[in-house]
Amino acid sequence: MCGIVGAVAQRDVVDILVEGLRRLEYRGYDSAGVAVVTESGELTRLRRLGKVKELADAVAEKPVTGGTGIAHTRWATHGEPSERNAHPHVSSNITVVHNGIIENHSPLREALKAKGYVFTSDTDTEVIAHLVEEELKTAGSLLAAVQKAVKQLHGAYGTVLLDKTDSSRVVVARSGSPLVIGLGIGENFIASDQLALLPVTRRFIFLEEGDVAEITRHSVAVFDKDGNAVEREVHESNVSYDAGDKGQYRHFMLKEIYEQPHAINNTLEGRLSSDSVLDETFGNGAAELFKQVKHVQIVACGTSYHSGMVARYWLESLGGISCNVEIASEFRYRKSFVQPNSLLVSISQSGETADTLAALRLAKEAGYLGSLTICNVAGSSLVRESDLAFMTRAGAEIGVASTKAFTTQLVGLAMLTMAIGKYNGLTGAQQRELTDALKSLPAKLEQTLTLAPQIEALAEEFADKHHALFLGRGDQYPIAMEGALKLKEISYIHAEAYAAGELKHGPLALIDADMPIIVVAPNNDLLEKLKSNVEEVRARGGILYVFADADAKFQSDATMRVINVPHVADILAPIVYTLPLQLLSYYVAIIKGTDVDQPRNLAKSVTVE
Ligand code: M6R
Repeated sequence: MCGIVGAVAQRDVVDILVEGLRRLEYRGYDSAGVAVVTESGELTRLRRLGKVKELADAVAEKPVTGGTGIAHTRWATHGEPSERNAHPHVSSNITVVHNGIIENHSPLREALKAKGYVFTSDTDTEVIAHLVEEELKTAGSLLAAVQKAVKQLHGAYGTVLLDKTDSSRVVVARSGSPLVIGLGIGENFIASDQLALLPVTRRFIFLEEGDVAEITRHSVAVFDKDGNAVEREVHESNVSYDAGDKGQYRHFMLKEIYEQPHAINNTLEGRLSSDSVLDETFGNGAAELFKQVKHVQIVACGTSYHSGMVARYWLESLGGISCNVEIASEFRYRKSFVQPNSLLVSISQSGETADTLAALRLAKEAGYLGSLTICNVAGSSLVRESDLAFMTRAGAEIGVASTKAFTTQLVGLAMLTMAIGKYNGLTGAQQRELTDALKSLPAKLEQTLTLAPQIEALAEEFADKHHALFLGRGDQYPIAMEGALKLKEISYIHAEAYAAGELKHGPLALIDADMPIIVVAPNNDLLEKLKSNVEEVRARGGILYVFADADAKFQSDATMRVINVPHVADILAPIVYTLPLQLLSYYVAIIKGTDVDQPRNLAKSVTVE
């Protein structure tokens, strides 16, 4: 949530900052701002309500220049989206941008007001500016003032500050919200995601929890939470420069839907032998750990939680061990029982989701055998703090609605099932079968994507609908949940998912001709049960949209539209059936005219709880 970019350079950095914000807009998009120190030592600040384009237009109209600057795109937490609440915030010589939440902002605000500071916004962020201004009175430098100030902050922050009286440096601090330093030649940069800086560098330092750093054109000095000077490793990024571009597609979401066969190819590459998952897939020491695992506890949020729910079916039916899946924001706030020989698995696209990260940190103290993260972002907090990491290799996912991250997570979780299952009764023949199935997946997905024109036509029927119900059974129940989440997230149609067997326990009361019912129906051992549930809906006048295996023998008629999905092995069905639901949501959103990539009120990376 919230995107941050900063630069210390000799050249004018305004275009770099604005382009950085554009590439970070997925993180928050209700207002944006930029502040630079001009050659004469003046601070110029421009802020606009709305998207980064509004800010870019303002910059074009009233050009500003400067070699040192900071910029921000906001996802509001404290204070409505407005120009006065947009970052950067200023306190005399100090200017600040911030991502996160300062939980003790109220007492700090009162204390600072008592000292005469005047607040001009409703944000929690403004306390940082005044606090640093206050500390600077006694500290010898901006760095020392920030070090003193952050000790008084509770909550999460990734923050960048500059002092207009010394434009040779910016100071940055990280606690709970990611920050990455980009290394240039005679210039250095800072951002909340490396994506923002790919046009200017590929060399990055990922700051760790509690780090404070001073960045000048020629130096980067990092200090840990105790104030000790520390060396942080420099990483060469392999994230594609084009990752932030839509290419030929109208939206990132559509591009990312179509990237899935390729993304899954990448996820599989070098990880399967002819008949099993290679030992090194989950990193050094994974095989030793997996031998001992008798229970898996999964924690995740949103779409990633849905992939965890699918994994529970797989781990218990194929992996031979028990599995529990919990929403991270619930898990972290309840006392849970740790089963003997448990592995904690976190799942996250971003690797920065505050609740998932907090759940991992709690679990570390709780007696788990170890932790594994299934994650898409190298160098992210979850990757750095877990014992083992499986990188999903989906490539940058920009659309707020998660698509390729979900299906690549499922591939990782299928491989985890195989890797653990081989110590718990999964036979050689079963492993071979699963290996062959996974290898066939990219082609099956290509085939599934050819359904797009049919689904686009179907989407017309949702244009005037306000509610929708998704049904599935077994490992398709979480896919129904994921379908409902996608539809509500981007089309704003209220959607619910039910395990189809639950219908008669309440939801049947909702059925009428205005409530579309979307059913996922692969040809598996629950098909006959599902067909009975479908008949229950038909008998009550419901209109059905059934995504089914041709062999399942559903027939389109006046009350049922059937779309035939390619026949696939059981393990692949949750992955394959996800694509038509993604496409359906996408086309419904297009008809509704919503902002597909940046739906209202949401942000891509949820770094606050
Ligand atoms: O980065 P994460 O996978 O941890 O994010 C978790 C959720 O915020 C995320 O999946 C969210 O539900 C998506 N916007 C859904 O499309």
